[in-house]
Amino acid sequence: MTNTSATNPPKIELHLHLEGAAPPAFIRGLAKEKKIDIGGIFDEAGHYKYTDFWDFLRVYEIATQPLKSPQDFHRLTLAVLEESAANGVIYTETFLSPDFCGGRDVGAWREYLHAIREAADIAERQMGITLRGIITPIRHFGPEKARETARCAAETAGDWIVGFGIGGDEKSGHLSDFKWSFDCAREAGLRITAHAGEWGGPESVRSAINDLDVERIGHGVRAIEDLALVDEIAEKGIVLEVCPGSNVALGLYPSFRKHPINQLRDRGVKVTVSTDDPPFFHTTMQNEYARLAEAFDWDDGVFADLANTSLDAAFCDADTKARLRKKLEQAHA
Ligand code: ADE
Ligand code: ZN
Repeated sequence: MTNTSATNPPKIELHLHLEGAAPPAFIRGLAKEKKIDIGGIFDEAGHYKYTDFWDFLRVYEIATQPLKSPQDFHRLTLAVLEESAANGVIYTETFLSPDFCGGRDVGAWREYLHAIREAADIAERQMGITLRGIITPIRHFGPEKARETARCAAETAGDWIVGFGIGGDEKSGHLSDFKWSFDCAREAGLRITAHAGEWGGPESVRSAINDLDVERIGHGVRAIEDLALVDEIAEKGIVLEVCPGSNVALGLYPSFRKHPINQLRDRGVKVTVSTDDPPFFHTTMQNEYARLAEAFDWDDGVFADLANTSLDAAFCDADTKARLRKKLEQAHA
């Protein structure tokens, strides 16, 4: 069988942080326009520079500093979607942080969201890519700020803001500290995901399932350290938003070959593939596909399954899914 590394099949991406997808040149340009000094976060080649996950979080927050207005997020959204569309992505769910969009004030957040959605509409018309938003508190900012974020989420929940998740430092506090925020988002109709099993072990994945009742898990890969948990994830149909290139770049696994995605898949877990924060990790969706094909001999059939599993797990409405499904079917006919 052939593999897909030389082609560009339609892709569905479920785990992408909007600020984390900002091209470094875009952030540098914005910083220059606004005369903001963010020197020190780039290496000599102009890429983001960090030493480990916790340093990555620090650099990430500095990189958001020039993003100060709804118009900045409009431009960012267009830049990010242009890159995604070039990689064959036809549908993306992106994490949006009211922390970086008006400091969790609901009125300000509405303005940022309006600007992001306007950009998404342009991208849909011009590039054929569909975007939906997942609101995300940042774990190390603490449960109190997460409540404010949840209020922003509840106020803007609907057919575009479709989910609620949590990112940030998995070692900060406990997921159960955020239960109120997740209940608030769920009551507003939002679908639930959470970062777990990246820097936390299997116990963090259990907590996401038992304390937050997640449908999907961001990463979740360290469930592999507890096979009973892997079987539970498979039986419950919980979907993993796996970001292999991110995990390898941050040193969680030494290589794609040593990454557990294939084992998880073989054991019946619904795995999907995303880039997380692509320029930080020197990756793209095309690159993820090529490296997975190479490491595990995945062929066109595996990637077609992957796209269908991802679309099944998307938080968008049924009409949007049906429209996207047709695109996948056409490509695989
Ligand atoms: N925020 C952006 N990328 C992240 C990651 N990989 N883990 C946790 N929080 C994040
Ligand atoms: Zn992430």
